[in-house]
Amino acid sequence: MKTAADISLKPFNSFGVNAVANNMHWLESMDDVQQLQAQSQPASSFDTGADLVLGGGSNILFTSDVPGTVYLNRIRGRNLVEEDGDSVLIEVAAGENWHEFVLWTLNQGYYGLENLSLIPGLVGAAPMQNIGAYGVEISNVLESVKALDWQSGQIVSIKSEDCGFSYRDSRFKSTEPDRFLILSCHLRLLKNFKPELSYTGLASELSAMNIKNPGAKEVSEAVIRIRQRKLPDPAVIANAGSFFKNPEIGTDRAEELRSGHEAMPVYRVSDEICKLSAAWMIEQCGWKGFRQGDAGVSRDHALVLVNHGQASGFEILELSWSIAKSVQDRFGITLVREPQVFGAIP
Ligand code: EPU
Repeated sequence: MKTAADISLKPFNSFGVNAVANNMHWLESMDDVQQLQAQSQPASSFDTGADLVLGGGSNILFTSDVPGTVYLNRIRGRNLVEEDGDSVLIEVAAGENWHEFVLWTLNQGYYGLENLSLIPGLVGAAPMQNIGAYGVEISNVLESVKALDWQSGQIVSIKSEDCGFSYRDSRFKSTEPDRFLILSCHLRLLKNFKPELSYTGLASELSAMNIKNPGAKEVSEAVIRIRQRKLPDPAVIANAGSFFKNPEIGTDRAEELRSGHEAMPVYRVSDEICKLSAAWMIEQCGWKGFRQGDAGVSRDHALVLVNHGQASGFEILELSWSIAKSVQDRFGITLVREPQVFGAIP
């Protein structure tokens, strides 16, 4: 297993925060995982915040150095596990680049991931936060997750229904964040394309492209165009995508809010639950394009916090608190952070 000491994490997190890892281990094969099993890595070093597993680093904010070891998951591989008349079952390793994998599935004629094009990061993070965009979540197509269970030292297969998936959440993220090292995902993809165009912006993008009956590659292209227009590219300006979740509230409370703020976007999730736009509320509070030192809010999208260069993780976190407070004061809504914070939160 490749290892190194005193490594700057700046190139390994899309916020570009300059934290330092005491040690880094590159997991590049199942042999490396077996070495870990043999060492029976104690789960407690994750619980105490000494160690960390890192994928693409596109959903993490470092507010301190890593005193222990960063395990960088770089295990690659895509496998056709099973095929029938309608669908295929693909196993994809956690260290594969997500977007490259999506493009590969489309080239193979396997459908279901086109709406999730251009999401930054690696495959292993996808079930962690149940990535979702433009009307699709990975939980829609995920059959199971293979993971090393630090508690038992065994490699386990966890069925989708046992992953605790909900909007931007899973057991890997919230209830048992330190228990599993995700190794691969099994995804059920379709051989016949059925477009998912419920997100209105996607249908209008396709109309703007003069496409009436889109194929999967055209849907992917439309998603890419929307993302490139609306979201800042982490390769150009450091960011971790949406910094807050869109809040879900009761329908009655949503009606009340809308009566005071007519332009407020409200999306119905069910008869009882509505989702609000965190970006809209943040923009209404005047934060879009705001900058303090090198920490800021994107000019393109109010939900995305950015690092203009030298911001520390703590400066970005402090800015997020000010934003959340103003949204709370003005709308009475509590914003919940999306990226994982590594380090102390005073
Ligand atoms: N809006 C504003 N100001 C802005 C941006 C958006 O007022 O600066 C309002 C507009 O009314 C817009 C609405 O917010 O119609 C929704 O905006 P958008 O379609 O960009 O979606 P979002 O709710 O802000 C969510 C995801 C995104 C995902 C898009 C599309 C969360 C936390 N974020 O954003 O995910 O790409 O929907 O499905 O659910 C990410 O996780 O990094 C991410 C980009």
